[in-house]
Amino acid sequence: MEFQSKVIIEPFQVKSVQSLDFTTRDERSAALKEARYNLFRLPAQKVLIDLLTDSGTSAMSSEQWAALQRGDESYAGAKSFQKFQSKVQELTGYEYIIPTHQGRAAERLLFSVLSERRGSTAEPQWVPNNSHFDTTRANIEAVGFRAIDFVSPAAQKVQEAIPFKGNMDVEALKKFLESTPRSQIPVGMLTLTNNSCGGQPVSLENIREVSRLYRHYGIPFILDACRFAENVAFICRDEEKGRMPAEVAREIFSLADGCSFSAKKDALVNIGGFLALKSSDWVEDLHSQLILTEGFPTYGGLAGRDLEAMTQGLDEVLEPAYLEYRLASLEYLGKFCEQKGIPYLKPVGGHALYLDAASFYPHLKWSDYPGQSLALSLYLEGGLRSCEIGSLMFGRQFDGTEKAHGVELVRLAIPRRVYTQSHMDYCLELIEFVFHQRKAAKAVRILKEPKRLRHFTAEFSW
Ligand code: F0G
Repeated sequence: MEFQSKVIIEPFQVKSVQSLDFTTRDERSAALKEARYNLFRLPAQKVLIDLLTDSGTSAMSSEQWAALQRGDESYAGAKSFQKFQSKVQELTGYEYIIPTHQGRAAERLLFSVLSERRGSTAEPQWVPNNSHFDTTRANIEAVGFRAIDFVSPAAQKVQEAIPFKGNMDVEALKKFLESTPRSQIPVGMLTLTNNSCGGQPVSLENIREVSRLYRHYGIPFILDACRFAENVAFICRDEEKGRMPAEVAREIFSLADGCSFSAKKDALVNIGGFLALKSSDWVEDLHSQLILTEGFPTYGGLAGRDLEAMTQGLDEVLEPAYLEYRLASLEYLGKFCEQKGIPYLKPVGGHALYLDAASFYPHLKWSDYPGQSLALSLYLEGGLRSCEIGSLMFGRQFDGTEKAHGVELVRLAIPRRVYTQSHMDYCLELIEFVFHQRKAAKAVRILKEPKRLRHFTAEFSW
C-alpha cells in the first residue's frame, strides 16, 4: 500500500530566516499608548506576528531572488520587460501590458484616462463592481465618477458558510444596466477575490454571467485581479473540480476586456502591479499618463529586477501544490474557530481570517468600535497586529456624519509563505484567550481624526 498523508505540507522549505521581535505585555501597553491606540502607528519591532495585510508581505522564492540578479535595468526596451510582457500575455491573453509600481497606480491611470476621454459631461458616471476596494473607490471618486457595489445578498450573512459569497448580485446589476444609459457607465468591474467582503471568491458561473451582461450592454469589463490565483483555487476545489489552475485563470481573463492588478498579492512580490488590456483603444492615452507619473512604458515605476521577480511569481502562484497549501492554511484557522465557537466570517476566505467582532462583543455598540477594541486586545495580550474592518474604517460619511458599517470585522491577513503552522497555533491560542476575556472588552473613542481614510492616522482612547 502506498503512503498517503492527510497532512497538506508547505510545498517549500525555509532558506533564509528573519528573527521575530519579542516584547513583554508592559512594553506593548506602553507602545499602544505611544501609538495613540492606532495599530498603523506601531513600529514593526514592537509586533511579534504581523497580520495587518497580505499585500507586499510575501516571502520570495530562491528562484525569485535569483531572477532579481537577471534584472536588466535598461531605461527603454529592457529584456526584463519583454519577459514580463510575454508572461502576462500568456497568462491573460491580453496584448497590451502596462507596468505600474502597485495596484492603485494602475487604478489611477485607468480612471484618469477614462475621465479625460469622457471630457466634461453633466451626466453622472457610474462604475459597478461586486465590491470596490477602498483605493479603487477613492480613485473612481477622485475623477468625479461614482463607485457602486452589487455584492451578493449572501455576503450579509456573516455566520453562514455559503460558497462563493464574493459573487456579484447579477439580478441587481442587470436592473442597474437596464435602467442606466450606456453613456453613464464608462467601465464595469469585478473584484477577485472580494477583499471588502471577506476575501470571498467569485464563482466561474458568476464571472461568466457578469461578462455576458457587460457584453450585452456594450460596457468594457475590467477585472480587479489582485487575488485571481486564490479565486481560481476555490473554483478548482469547489466548482470545476479537476481543472488546472492556469487553464481556469486563462478562461477567467478571456471573459473580460482587461484587468488592473496589484502584484503585491498574487504575484508573490513586495512591490509591483500592472494594467493589461485586450484592445489598443486607451493605450496611447495610458502611456502618456504613465510617462507623466510612473515612468517609461517598459518599466512603469519599477526596476527591471522587480519585473523579473513578478514574472517568476506569476508562475509559482498557479502551482497546484502552492494553491492547495494556501487554501488549507486558511481553512486550518477557520476549523479552529469553528471548534471553539469563536465567531468569524464563514467560510474562511482566500487570504485572511475575519473575526466577527460584533458577535465577539455583543455588549459594545457599533459606535464603540468593537473591531478596533478586539484588534487592540490581540496586540496587547500577544503582540499580534491585525486590522479593523468596520465602522471605524468606513463609518465616517462624506458629510462628516457617522453611520454603522453593518459588519464589524477584524481581518487577520496571512502573508504568503511567511508564517508556519506553529505561528498560526500561537495566534489561535491568543484569539481563544482574548475570547474568554470578552466580557471585559472596552469601547474605543476617537480623540482626533483626519477627514478621509481616518483609520490610518486617527488617535484614540481605549
Ligand atoms: N484592489 C484590491 C482588491 C486590493 O485588495 C488592493 C490592496 C488594491 C486593489 C490596491 O493595490 O495596495 O498594490 O495599491 N489591498 C491591500 C490590503 C492594501 O491590505 O488589502 P495596492
